[in-house]
Amino acid sequence: MSKQTWLTGITTSGTPHLGNYVGAIRPAVEASRNPDREGFYFLADYHAMIKNQDPALLRQSRQEIATAWLALGMDTDHATFYRQSDIPEIMELTWMLTCLTAKGLMNRAHAYKAVVQDNIDGDAADADKGITMGLFSYPVLMSADILMFKATHVPVGRDQIQHIEMARDIAQRFNHHYGELLVLPQVVVEERASVLSGLDGRKMSKSYGNTIPLFETSRKLRKSIMKIKTNSQEPGESKDPEGNTVFDIYRAFANDEQTQQLRDAYAAGIGWGDAKQQLFELVDAVLSEPRERYDELMADPGQVDMILKRGAEKAREHSRANLAELRRAVGVA
Ligand code: TRP
Repeated sequence: MSKQTWLTGITTSGTPHLGNYVGAIRPAVEASRNPDREGFYFLADYHAMIKNQDPALLRQSRQEIATAWLALGMDTDHATFYRQSDIPEIMELTWMLTCLTAKGLMNRAHAYKAVVQDNIDGDAADADKGITMGLFSYPVLMSADILMFKATHVPVGRDQIQHIEMARDIAQRFNHHYGELLVLPQVVVEERASVLSGLDGRKMSKSYGNTIPLFETSRKLRKSIMKIKTNSQEPGESKDPEGNTVFDIYRAFANDEQTQQLRDAYAAGIGWGDAKQQLFELVDAVLSEPRERYDELMADPGQVDMILKRGAEKAREHSRANLAELRRAVGVA
């Protein structure tokens, strides 16, 4: 069997938080070190542009996210780590795929449908209010990201499963028409990469404003953790760890033994302040070295830029060759 090709993208919006780490960065960093796989990891900055049209913010967010991934150990010698916008072949493929994509398929995209529904519920005169072609065609760009590199496996969060199915659908149509040139990707939902809860107990997400940033100072990290919402149970009362945010985050960073210890402490009635202090100490210990690397790299953007350019060169060896083949197949070359 030929080597598997794993590929995943991260939309460069917001500031990286603990939820991103547990859900996306940590599994990708581990995978980037796996010698049995070819790995492509990229910063989806053109996806970010759909929602963010402030150039300074776009740049800032991409820099923070790239730096976070590097500081947390992305293996850029083995895996290929690059910016989507550095690969012009992706844009060309996007158009080819756009010409093969049924509009009706895009009409069914959850993300698009949710905005339309909000417009209808909000009594907007136009159901498509505020919807750009970028948002509408988002799954086509994402398909190009994947199909460009003949990815066999695409690890994503649950909210992205439909997009991978669309990529398969589009690839199939292309192949049917022009010959078996594109590889149908398989979605991988990593169960271990659990969804982390945020300060208010809902999923940790930038859109809820309930995140704990990954790389703030130790002091600020402690302050954030102390803000996690808990119930009014007193110290001495036995507490249920299931569905408890402090416990949930702790478990995502701890080994089995540490998790068991906190579970026992809950049963024995640990106070919320103490539980949070334990959580802080654990997370702070895990992040202290990466934080130093992060600060160094943020102070040296030239180095990050060089790493990403090298990644783009590596990626383009594939995308140039693959696109040349596709151009011939569709009849423009
Ligand atoms: N849309 C994905 C997200 O927001 C990011 C992404 C862009 C992606 N292109 C991709 C993920 C290709 C996997 C493969 O999470």
